Amino acid sequence: MVARIQVGTMQMSRLVAGVWRLMEWQMSKDALLDWIHACLDLGLTTFDNADIYGGYRCEAAFGEALALQPALRGTMEIVTKCGIALLSDQRPQHFVKHYNTSRAHIVAAAENSLRQMRTDYIDLLLIHRPDPLLNADETAAAFVELKQAGKVLHFGVSNFTPSQFDLLQARLDFPLVTNQIEFSVLHLQPLHDGTLDHSQRLRLPPMAWSPLGGGSLFTGQDAQTQRVRAALEQVGRAHGGAALDTVALAWLLAHPAHVVPVLGSGKVERLRGAAAAEQIQLDRQQWFSIWQASAGHEVP
Ligand SMILES: NC(=O)c1ccc[n+]([C@@H]2O[C@H](COP(=O)([O-])OP(=O)(O)OC[C@H]3O[C@@H](n4cnc5c(N)ncnc54)[C@H](OP(=O)(O)O)[C@@H]3O)[C@@H](O)[C@H]2O)c1
Repeated sequence: MVARIQVGTMQMSRLVAGVWRLMEWQMSKDALLDWIHACLDLGLTTFDNADIYGGYRCEAAFGEALALQPALRGTMEIVTKCGIALLSDQRPQHFVKHYNTSRAHIVAAAENSLRQMRTDYIDLLLIHRPDPLLNADETAAAFVELKQAGKVLHFGVSNFTPSQFDLLQARLDFPLVTNQIEFSVLHLQPLHDGTLDHSQRLRLPPMAWSPLGGGSLFTGQDAQTQRVRAALEQVGRAHGGAALDTVALAWLLAHPAHVVPVLGSGKVERLRGAAAAEQIQLDRQQWFSIWQASAGHEVP
């Protein structure tokens, strides 16, 4: 059973089920409901969505499945995001892809997410990407409005630098709970650019998207991916033949910032394999052997 973790002021599952690829899974409403049930049975109670996923269709698909059993809502946490405006047949008024973190846009996007997902509250709303036109006072005012209305319980950001995070936090009298970032054995940048230092300093577990490199960990033929696969296999052998994904996730879980990986598979057996990562403790040398394989050189 997947553990629970305190993320700022909220609790979530230690691993999160992401639904970015939901439309690719081509599931019927009933099949999606079965998948949601399987996640909950594994202890994956936190679901990560965004207004734009599936070309603005994932939230509605998730909501339709949820509407088959509305009582499930109380057994899960829903994370969603806003702030990116896509070129889409669903948004014919957009003529350029852009970001929008204005008060009006955030409030309207969150209210639309509630309707799409057939729920009356969002557990955690994230600003999807840092907006060069972000006006922190306005964005904070949107958060306050949504919080006071009980429409959103907790707030956070995604892909923010520490300084962008601090700017928005400075305008709020309640804490942002997380920064959702790209982090994996194939993407080491947050270890070295201050992002994870910031998370650890604030004791706010970051959520990690594409924790298996978006699947390229299994299929990539470039030199870095081949080296990383070999290192993961070697460490896996020392842990009773643990699979690539299990070891790659255990590597993330070993970080002292308490990283919360956001999984992206629609296949329950793969989610089960991912959950096994919690049972594996990498020692320091195993952790660095994977770091070295990814970086392509030993530490200085
Ligand atoms: N905040 C952001 O900017 C941002 C950006 C991107 C994603 N996200 C979030 O992060 C979530 C996860 O991202 P992701 O989907 O890129 O995660 P990921 O877990 O790195 O990649 C998922 C892909 O890997 C494949 N896969 C997983 N386990 C596998 C295994 N054992 N063997 C072979 N293939 C395997 C999956 O295919 P199958 O489905 O066939 O198993 C899927 O195509 C998204 O759903 C979304 O919620 C957030």
